Amino acid sequence: MEAARWAFRCGSWAPTCSDWLFAARCVQREEKERIGQFVFAKDARSAMAGRLLIRKLICEKMGFAWDGFRLERTPRGKPYLARPLSAPDSASPWSFNVSHQGDYAVLAAEPGRQVGVDVMKTTMPGSSSVVEFFKLMTRQFTELEWEKIQSAGSNWDQLDMFYRHWALKESFIKAIGTGLGFNLQRAEFHVSPTKMQEGQVYCQTRMYLDGEEEEDWTFEECLLDKYHHVAVALAKPEHLTTNDAGISSGATLPKFTLLSFGDLVSGATPLSDEDPAYWESFRRKLEAPVRQSEVQ
Ligand SMILES: CC(C)(COP(=O)(O)OP(=O)(O)OC[C@H]1O[C@@H](n2cnc3c(N)ncnc32)[C@H](O)[C@@H]1OP(=O)(O)O)[C@@H](O)C(=O)NCCC(=O)NCCS
Repeated sequence: MEAARWAFRCGSWAPTCSDWLFAARCVQREEKERIGQFVFAKDARSAMAGRLLIRKLICEKMGFAWDGFRLERTPRGKPYLARPLSAPDSASPWSFNVSHQGDYAVLAAEPGRQVGVDVMKTTMPGSSSVVEFFKLMTRQFTELEWEKIQSAGSNWDQLDMFYRHWALKESFIKAIGTGLGFNLQRAEFHVSPTKMQEGQVYCQTRMYLDGEEEEDWTFEECLLDKYHHVAVALAKPEHLTTNDAGISSGATLPKFTLLSFGDLVSGATPLSDEDPAYWESFRRKLEAPVRQSEVQ
């Protein structure tokens, strides 16, 4: 069955009152409340997009009605489908994960295969030099990874390589669902190719876990645009052997499809009544925190 790789440009999404109120009606009540509590509009929009992406996936790929299931979270926060008694016959277990950072919210999903996704936007550090910023991050990467990052070229190229490694680590952590409790030095990435082109998907990067090359994990990487790296961590398919997994990774790799807001809610059914105060509170939010480097 075809995998899903979807992206939504939440950074430039300017919802109208009716868009925002409709979106709020189409997510579970506790998620609507969580999203309403974000201080910044940018964070509220990206979290909303993440929830809509997951619901769309479960409807389109697993055959559930929009209002026919509940999403729960593991104790560490990873959303999952709490399977209702009346699952459609066609429903097969899909693993899914979303990420929202920079200007995008993304979803990656696969049937019968554990998946984690992370999007990272390359940006200059807000309040320090690149050298100071890297110092603060020393413990997140191994010596070999730092060599690769710091030999990438200009400050910008080094940051780009830094965020590429970051996305890879996060995609793995998110696939296994552990969150902050994982020692990031345990997973070392050997990235390849060094330069990626927009429009291409790569899967040559390898992960070494506790010093051993991991045969069971594949990492798809791509650039959504020249600033945004996406990494998708994929466990070996549950029904395949390692050899089969090698063959399947040689097949055409799925590219991210850019969705519009209309696409996100095309199959949506409201789960609750309209709440006009929710728009008032949204439109009063500041867009995003002011970065130190932007303060005169
Ligand atoms: C959630 C976590 C796993 C990732 O957070 P993040 O990178 O800030 O956020 P992303 O945008 O990529 O993903 C957030 C989404 O992942 C999902 N998520 C939440 N907890 C998760 C978990 N434990 N595992 C997988 N996915 C999770 C949710 O859908 C969440 O969106 P929501 O909060 O709007 O529901 C975070 O708790 C974490 O542990 N980060 C590690 C931080 C770190 O030290 N990174 C250094 C890398 S070098």
